[in-house]
Amino acid sequence: MRQKGKSFKLKIEKLVYGGKGLGRLNGKAVFVPQVAPGDLIVAEETARKSGYSEARVVKLLERSRARTRPRCPHFGRCGGCDWQHIKYPEQVKAKKLIVEENLQKIGKIKKPNVDEVIPSPSPWNYRNRAQIKVKNGRVGFYAKNSHNVVEVERCPLLKEDIEGIFPKLKELLRELPTEPAEFHIYSSGKDEVLLKIVFQGRFKRFELPLERVREILGVNLVGYGIYRTGREGYPERIEFFGRDFTYEPVGKFKFRVSADSFFQVNRFQVGNLIEKVAKVAAEHQYMLAGDLYCGVGTLTIPVGRYVHRAFGIESNFWAVSDALYNKDINGLRNVQFFCRETEEGLKIVREFSPDLVIVDPPRSGLNEKIIRTLANLPRLKRIVYVSCNPATLARDIATFHRYGVNMERAKVLDMFPQTYHVETIAYLRKVK
Ligand SMILES: C[S@@+](CC[C@H](N)C(=O)[O-])C[C@H]1O[C@@H](n2cnc3c(N)ncnc32)[C@H](O)[C@@H]1O
Repeated sequence: MRQKGKSFKLKIEKLVYGGKGLGRLNGKAVFVPQVAPGDLIVAEETARKSGYSEARVVKLLERSRARTRPRCPHFGRCGGCDWQHIKYPEQVKAKKLIVEENLQKIGKIKKPNVDEVIPSPSPWNYRNRAQIKVKNGRVGFYAKNSHNVVEVERCPLLKEDIEGIFPKLKELLRELPTEPAEFHIYSSGKDEVLLKIVFQGRFKRFELPLERVREILGVNLVGYGIYRTGREGYPERIEFFGRDFTYEPVGKFKFRVSADSFFQVNRFQVGNLIEKVAKVAAEHQYMLAGDLYCGVGTLTIPVGRYVHRAFGIESNFWAVSDALYNKDINGLRNVQFFCRETEEGLKIVREFSPDLVIVDPPRSGLNEKIIRTLANLPRLKRIVYVSCNPATLARDIATFHRYGVNMERAKVLDMFPQTYHVETIAYLRKVK
């Protein structure tokens, strides 16, 4: 049995990155999950760390006006969401504060210029994909801080055609000779669904006709694949049945996206992201734009319309193959793509010598070598840094600053309603 920690009254001041609320006990920070700014609670300490404590809510004494009723019955146990108990406009406010604080504390910018957040046009049914966990016949998502699977019947964050897919996946389980570890489901803007069945370790081979899987799932399934968790934790493709790609129409653009390529998860915000990035190219005259971590060319292609030449660098083979195809279907002849890890591609970046650079790295951000190379490009004028992690963004902005590239302003785009995750576009400029 867990030993009882000490209890105390706590006023929650604000929400922090990671989703918890922050209160102070005798000046010391206390982090509490599932609270709202303005709550007065009785908290019980669950862990003491150097300089701060963690606690849980024992009793809610005064309810914050930011609170609302969570839509999903699994909220609180399911690890997918953090903030369903907080009204959407308050979530948006909290995200702006989080970005500002990271830029101040880690980025060392005294008064960061952060624009109003662009909220998601809908805070529900926005996600086009999910990694659904399977364990001992249960289908759902991992519980918070655990690998136990919380059974879910529907997920209100997912697109309407796939939000209720869970019982159907359970039905599919009955036809598989081995229990998979995960189902990855993706429904594109054309409502075409791709499914990956991911096994861990040994499994029996099977061949279920695509029509049968489509019939069970009751969605417009265009293809499904059998995968095995590879050495680096990513699913490796074994076999695919049917079509292994779909299309994403975004405004005047169209992107082919393969089952193994990245595409932005919030279907309502992709157009806004493209617009806010491409606007930089549209407003200034740049010769050459480089897009690092370019995926299927989601940003390279729109930016390519406003510059003489553009190039993208991306490590995923499937994404590069999509990007090369996408430049053709979007009628661009001035765009090139290279399949490289960014670090390996720095030679290409130096050779092209772009005056505009876009980076959209994974959560880990950039490293000093990449930053130094970009900052030292002789023709560089601007960098647009798209980030899904405000802490690594702020760290990298501090490094850019040391190399003479400063952040002018930032924009927060809410890609991930009901969660603490936040997407930021930072606009940087080289100072001579
Ligand atoms: C956040 S996504 C951005 C994709 C694209 N900008 C978009 O908006 O769709 C990051 C991309 O970086 C790629 N990636 C991850 N690590 C990489 C690396 N070391 N070098 C190059 N690309 C990498 C991933 O495959 C993914 O496509």
